[in-house]
Amino acid sequence: MMTIRIWAITLLWTLAGTEVPGAEIPEGPGLGRPAPAAYIAAWDTDVMADGAGLPPGAGTAEAGTRIYAQQCLSCHGEDGLGDSGDQLAGAQHKLTDEWPEKTIGTFWPYAPTLFDFIRRSMPMRTPGSLGDDDTYAVTAYLLYLNGIIGFKDEMNAVSLPKVRMPNRDGFIDARELP
Ligand code: HEC
Repeated sequence: MMTIRIWAITLLWTLAGTEVPGAEIPEGPGLGRPAPAAYIAAWDTDVMADGAGLPPGAGTAEAGTRIYAQQCLSCHGEDGLGDSGDQLAGAQHKLTDEWPEKTIGTFWPYAPTLFDFIRRSMPMRTPGSLGDDDTYAVTAYLLYLNGIIGFKDEMNAVSLPKVRMPNRDGFIDARELP
């Protein structure tokens, strides 16, 4: 009986000990603590297919021409035709052709997720280095190269979700297959 009581007291003591506000937190990965809001905000940059999450800012293909030449052309080639990096534009064949070409114009279903992809992962050696205006501009340039928007059309949080991608209806939901 006595042993159980001592155990119970020890347990309570231990539990109470973990709850002490302002207790020293040992150096470490900080597991079990809520991440600071600023830290979460820095990672929480998702842009959804419907444009939710697009930041303020704007850009045109005209402005994106220079950015593409300086930061993308070395891998994606002249006019996005591809080099060591993927072909991004100028497809001669549709996805349903015998030799399909998967580019932004033939494949991507939504324009806002193109912005998201570029902002988080390109240029490949320095991902995350493009500002929001430059990302809008180079996204616009790639849409322009694919014949989807005009050279001077401004892309921003309102106009980008309105861009109708050619392959918008080309995807099927596997859950709806028989
Ligand atoms: C150092 C080479 C390199 C540079 C520079 C580079 N890319 Fe890429 N990019 C790649 C590679 C390689 C891939 C394929 C990555 C993969 O499939 O995971 C890719 C993929 C992409 C894709 C996705 C293609 C698709 O349809 O799946 C886009 C869009 C893109 N890059 C845009 C850009 C833009 C815009 C820039 C300039 C701001 C840029 N890239 C700079 C190498 C590069």
